[in-house]
Amino acid sequence: MTQQLLVYVPPHPLIKHWLAVARDAATPSVLFRSAIVELGRWLTYEAARDWLVTQDTMIDTPLAACPGTVIDPQIPVAVVPILRAGLGLLDGAQTVLPLAKIYHLGLVRNEETLEPSCYLNKLPEKLDPETRVLITDPMLATGGSIMTAMAELIQRGVDPAFTRVVCVVAAPPALQKLSAAYPGLTVYSATIDGQVNDQGFIIPGLGDAGDRIFGT
Ligand code: PRP
Repeated sequence: MTQQLLVYVPPHPLIKHWLAVARDAATPSVLFRSAIVELGRWLTYEAARDWLVTQDTMIDTPLAACPGTVIDPQIPVAVVPILRAGLGLLDGAQTVLPLAKIYHLGLVRNEETLEPSCYLNKLPEKLDPETRVLITDPMLATGGSIMTAMAELIQRGVDPAFTRVVCVVAAPPALQKLSAAYPGLTVYSATIDGQVNDQGFIIPGLGDAGDRIFGT
């Protein structure tokens, strides 16, 4: 079977609601932050569905033994927030994945060329190829930042099939680049918007997520 990029937009009322709050230009920074946290929580919950590895076990309840299922402790789980804006999704992701290791990756786009540059990389030299990796970044626009993040991960042994991207707004240029380079990767997004303008902003989008999260 030919692999292809999978993009899920979960049809969940909480995801739709918090997306609407985040999109609204009248939403103040404090509420915008909460909306992004909630989106991080529910999108991570959805992304974990066929991604976390479980194992069957026997459990002794106070009354009897019965079969059960637990998360496999042997399989490493990692979250990679792309700074700054990806930090906004991290809080919610951590409520779903409290034991995940967090590897920060600081990327910023040049405002004119839109090329990303890396100013912080806390990834280890190598990652176990079985590692389940979840990347958080609210916006996939031209795709330069997510492609840089993916390249850093692949270089360290990560398998795209075990990788999930959690974002809020994804745009076609980013999805096309990911699709060409990483079939087998899966993206969870609150929505897919149609356009990226000349300044690299997604239209209609939600503005500059980093600035709105941090009030700058
Ligand atoms: C934004 C956003 C993504 C990137 C998306 O970050 O959070 O990381 O742009 O754009 P791309 O798909 O065209 O690369 P930005 O560089 O503004 O940095 P910030 O998160 O620190 O605000």
